[in-house]
Amino acid sequence: MIGKFAAALLSLSGVVNAVAFPQNSGTPTTSARASAAPNASPSAYTPSASDLASGCANVANAAAAFARTSGARSASAFPIDPKIGYDCLQSIPLTKDAALDFIFELSKLMQFQSTLTYLARPPAKSGQDPMDILGGLNNLYNSVQSGSITSWNELETRIERLLAGAHEGHLYVQWIVPQIISFQAPFSLIDISTDGKSQPKVYVVDDVAGQTNDNLQGSAITQLNGQDILAAIEELTYYEQSQSPDARWNAAFQSQNPPKQGSFYVRPRYPGSNTFTLTFENGTTTEYPYQGYAFNVAGQNVWASLGTGQDIWDKLINVPPTSSNSNAKRLRKRALEANKQRRTQNPDLDNAIARLQKRQSGSNSAPPPAQLVAFNATFPDTPGVNPYIQDINQVVGGYFMDDYAGDGSTTAILDITGFAPSDETAQFATQAVQAAVQMFLAEAKRRKMQKLIIDVRGNGGGFVNMGYDMYTQLFPGSQPYSGTRIRFHPASEKFAEAFTQLVNEDVVNGLIRAIGGGMGENLSNAQVNQYQLASYASLSNLDQFLTVDEDAQPFTSFTDFVGPVPVYGDNFTHILTYALNNTLAVGDLDYDITGYGRRASFRNNPQPFANEDIVLLTDGVCASTCGIFGEFLRNQQKIRTVVVGGRPNTEQSAAIGGTRGTQIIQHTAHLLNFVQIVENNFQPANAQEQQQWDNIFPRPFNINIAEAAVNWKDNIRRTDPTNTPLQFYLEAADCRLFYTRDTLVYSHNLWAMVDGLAWGADTNCAVGSIKNATVVLGDSNGVPVSIGTTSGSGMNSGYGDTPQLTGDKTIDTGLWIWYGVRDSLGSSNGKRPY
Ligand SMILES: *[C@@H]1O[C@H](CO)[C@@H](O)[C@H](O)[C@H]1NC(C)=O
Ligand SMILES: *[C@@H]1O[C@H](CO)[C@@H](O)[C@H](O)[C@H]1NC(C)=O
Ligand SMILES: *[C@@H]1O[C@H](CO)[C@@H](O)[C@H](O)[C@H]1NC(C)=O
Ligand SMILES: *[C@@H]1O[C@H](CO)[C@@H](O)[C@H](O)[C@H]1NC(C)=O
Ligand SMILES: *[C@@H]1O[C@H](CO)[C@@H](O)[C@H](O)[C@H]1NC(C)=O
Ligand SMILES: *[C@@H]1O[C@H](CO)[C@@H](O)[C@H](O)[C@H]1NC(C)=O
Repeated sequence: MIGKFAAALLSLSGVVNAVAFPQNSGTPTTSARASAAPNASPSAYTPSASDLASGCANVANAAAAFARTSGARSASAFPIDPKIGYDCLQSIPLTKDAALDFIFELSKLMQFQSTLTYLARPPAKSGQDPMDILGGLNNLYNSVQSGSITSWNELETRIERLLAGAHEGHLYVQWIVPQIISFQAPFSLIDISTDGKSQPKVYVVDDVAGQTNDNLQGSAITQLNGQDILAAIEELTYYEQSQSPDARWNAAFQSQNPPKQGSFYVRPRYPGSNTFTLTFENGTTTEYPYQGYAFNVAGQNVWASLGTGQDIWDKLINVPPTSSNSNAKRLRKRALEANKQRRTQNPDLDNAIARLQKRQSGSNSAPPPAQLVAFNATFPDTPGVNPYIQDINQVVGGYFMDDYAGDGSTTAILDITGFAPSDETAQFATQAVQAAVQMFLAEAKRRKMQKLIIDVRGNGGGFVNMGYDMYTQLFPGSQPYSGTRIRFHPASEKFAEAFTQLVNEDVVNGLIRAIGGGMGENLSNAQVNQYQLASYASLSNLDQFLTVDEDAQPFTSFTDFVGPVPVYGDNFTHILTYALNNTLAVGDLDYDITGYGRRASFRNNPQPFANEDIVLLTDGVCASTCGIFGEFLRNQQKIRTVVVGGRPNTEQSAAIGGTRGTQIIQHTAHLLNFVQIVENNFQPANAQEQQQWDNIFPRPFNINIAEAAVNWKDNIRRTDPTNTPLQFYLEAADCRLFYTRDTLVYSHNLWAMVDGLAWGADTNCAVGSIKNATVVLGDSNGVPVSIGTTSGSGMNSGYGDTPQLTGDKTIDTGLWIWYGVRDSLGSSNGKRPY
């Protein structure tokens, strides 16, 4: 079926630009779901003392000139020479005490990273390089203390790389510096093959605009700055979040579904020089400029008071994140927006509390399903075809191939762009998606559809409830299983004790009775407070009575729940699963997951599509809630998977290559509230315990950052005797494809190709096949089979030193108390320093 739509092709750049984002628009903000990962290029250029002294003054001069233009009245950024931007950033100093305090706070947060020990000494074949986060922070701490790091930008960049080396989408600090000054390449790159099966090549987008697959006029890129393009892109994308090196590779390039410009184009950090060269197959080498951008506030010249690095430190960075200084605040807001597009926030809690409050005031129940969907309307990710149905927030689109191809096909397509809207003000996100999927499946049944392609390309996750619901709508008879656990250490243990006491069995039962299946309209003020407490307890998953064991049964004792369970040289809680029938655990009184609560009767519905008639299509990103959903489909239903893109080679590639952690927890939005709940309700026994609390409980940051987060819960396959987090398995997709020019821009062309491979005449994929695939869930011992490597050469090995485990489990340096492995990943011997 390939080539069926060739006649209708629009120009490549035309489509992407019109749909998603203006290129060269003078604004450095990223498109929807564009990666905001740091870039890996070593900074080749080192500013001299006089460069540093004049950097911010030069930016301020450019600002003054820009302020006189008419554009200044509306722009959020103005162009600057990249070098002076970098000079300015590097000249931002730091105050030792403030920087040390910040690192100390980060180290407390890192105690909650569920995979801390696995990262420090990754399992064989995980594909993860050793990344000892506590050891790395210790090194940076010492470097600040000894005076070998004196630039804030330098420290920030190195912390960023340390965390990014974990390739864990739930682990990050959302810095504001890239909102002050950032960088951009003059164009995006794409990576395409002539037929989707032969090896792809890298092109400048505009070089292949408006052309057909088999007659690409542009010349492919062979080198970037004289380095082989393959190695150069691998290096550029090394610090991307996905643990799959192929998903990281894809991040460099422009795509349409998801709409993004790619991390070759969007550069939050200085690329290392002002220009770059590309060498093409035809032998031409051309030099191109990068562009810098500095932040602007419409109608103001903010740089009038930011003429030195010291000014930036004093006014924008060395201020608490609660600072009401308007520019400090504005930058946090911009940083949060940039992060929203990555969909790795945790919207569940805020939603639960906000909606209860609104309902208390007598408003805001979800409208009926028909008002939560739209028919036959355009959908941003799929130019050229409109879905039959979509939710009002454009999270999912449901298509029937016959509608646009007119070929009598019985294939339906569900495009799940995320598990949350990208618009934070969107209403009734979970209800709207539930309604759209339900109506789509009903229409598919009415039309006697046989086959289903589930497209989750670019899906970075979102509401966990939405992922469970999507699964139970597709498999009404199934009980979804996701075995999760939390890292056990003195702070998580203290939270668990506090939540389990405060929201005990009586409180849980009392609240559920008072809610009575309603909307909380009859709760007293005291009960509303209890409900809020229960929302935090539920979010934390550290309340014995708001979570269930691996057999979906209540825990019989606190120890039975919290552990500690020693695994892999670390301690964890017992395996916890989601109490899907508990309205407090689900957290939205106006919503039940299909198959539970008020939607329990759906369990008797027939399964809409047979397992062998479903294919899951990814680009390797599938992360977080998508990772949970993908695991349900693959592990419980043996649904075959197709992955598109990745490094040009003939190897297998992972379908689910983004974080497989099941929950993110944010420092300021969540953890500080947990601490406050403990400290408002319990007193330390003595001065010594007070000291311990100060050492283990996160406190507000003293530096102006937007947010920081860790992966809170692992996902553990029940049949895995090693209890290794799924994060450390790269499981091969059954079929691997590459993009062509047509399938990159037009999702329906890719769907046609997948359809042909799964149920039509086509047979072999670029690697593997769909037709004869047997989904591999593990070896003969039940251990998942990983295609990752940790030895030999290549991007997945040899970066970072092997940590020297000291054997210490509790490390008390007087200043720090760490629970976990220590040291010593250094920047000295590792090939790739942080
Ligand atoms: C070589 O290819 C590049 C990229 O398509 C193009 O810009 C350049 O003009 C070509 N050079 C020659 C000599 O044709
Ligand atoms: C959507 O479009 C199809 C085909 O044009 C049409 O048959 C159908 O009635 C439309 N559905 C709605 C709900 O508008
Ligand atoms: C709330 O109280 C009203 C008035 O007593 C009652 O009619 C209603 O059923 C109650 N709602 C719930 C969910 O219990
Ligand atoms: C695990 O917890 C036990 C009990 O609290 C403790 O004795 C042990 O040192 C801990 N192990 C690690 C690796 O932290
Ligand atoms: C969940 O609750 C419904 C009714 O509220 C009940 O019918 C169903 O059996 C319960 N399911 C489980 C797994 O407890
Ligand atoms: C799939 O299996 C069938 C029957 O065993 C065989 O005839 C066919 O060649 C196989 N196809 C591929 C692509 O391996």
